[in-house]
Amino acid sequence: MTTKHKVIFDTDPGVDDAMALYFAMAHPDIDVIGITTTFGNVTVQQATENAIYLTRLAGVSIPVAQGAAVPLSKKPGSPPDFIHGKDGLGNLPSRAEVEGVAEDVSAAEFIVKMARAHPGEITLVAVGPLGNLGLALKIEPNLPKLLKNVVLMAGTVTEPGNVSPVAEANVWNDPDAADLVFTAGWDLTMCGLDVTHRVIMPASAFLGLATEHKHVAMDTLSHAVDFYSNFYQAIRPELGHSCYGHDVLAFVWLVAPELFKTKMGRIRVQKQGEGNGQTMMDRLGLFYPEPGWEADKPETRVCMEVNAPACYELIMGTLLSDWLKPALLK
Ligand code: BDR
Ligand code: CA
Repeated sequence: MTTKHKVIFDTDPGVDDAMALYFAMAHPDIDVIGITTTFGNVTVQQATENAIYLTRLAGVSIPVAQGAAVPLSKKPGSPPDFIHGKDGLGNLPSRAEVEGVAEDVSAAEFIVKMARAHPGEITLVAVGPLGNLGLALKIEPNLPKLLKNVVLMAGTVTEPGNVSPVAEANVWNDPDAADLVFTAGWDLTMCGLDVTHRVIMPASAFLGLATEHKHVAMDTLSHAVDFYSNFYQAIRPELGHSCYGHDVLAFVWLVAPELFKTKMGRIRVQKQGEGNGQTMMDRLGLFYPEPGWEADKPETRVCMEVNAPACYELIMGTLLSDWLKPALLK
């Protein structure tokens, strides 16, 4: 019998965040024991509302703790409503009223509390800007030993960036927090654009899921993916009416690492100038005299290649399974 992965999901939902959340809730080997929210695709208040909404809509009451509203030092920007919609879920025409409120501790406090209560057992899957992990490290410097491992959707090594030629959005949103995370010394895996740009998710497949399930949660996801795919089709017409599943790949790594080729190396984050948000990886394992690249800096496991068709099958098969419960409506 496999033991389930006990996961805290750190997220800024967000359409691909919603896809990732539903994949995690649907997968038999994953137990989402808490959700922590951050600014990013939407404000942190909207991210919290969406996390509560999406979980209750799927019929499960998972604790949600609200986190970082702004980056650690960078000047805050505005959420990309042209990608995820003003509400983060593709501008839903209406919302059902669901049960549930956020926890009375911050995201960082929640992460630390849970890690201390279950030492060595929890996987932290983070798919937004990394301020909550940065703040949690400040509260509990021993966090890397208390968590089992950390998996990120963040960064890029050889694939061009999506907010500048070199930067991926989650790292670029809070480069200072990201650098803390890449140098903290946990068992760390990065699923970045090098692999997420290989897996194309057609909007029609989500419409198919909604038709099969006949459930408000899947109707909601399909609506959101449709909006998100309009954005991708406009900037990358060769994709057709499709999108990248970005965040869901972090969970795919967790349950099916054999679908990825990885490389170990030290990563540092560029914090200033036109290159801010760049994840610079030492791919050669060399001695470098430049300060910041000392040999004792921790290494990250970076996903460099993915079996895209198998990954797509796993995502769709999991979402199609019989996992949805009646929505927890008021
Ligand atoms: C990442 O940025 C966000 O827009 C997505 O949700 C994903 O986490 C992709 O660069
Ligand atoms: Ca995200």
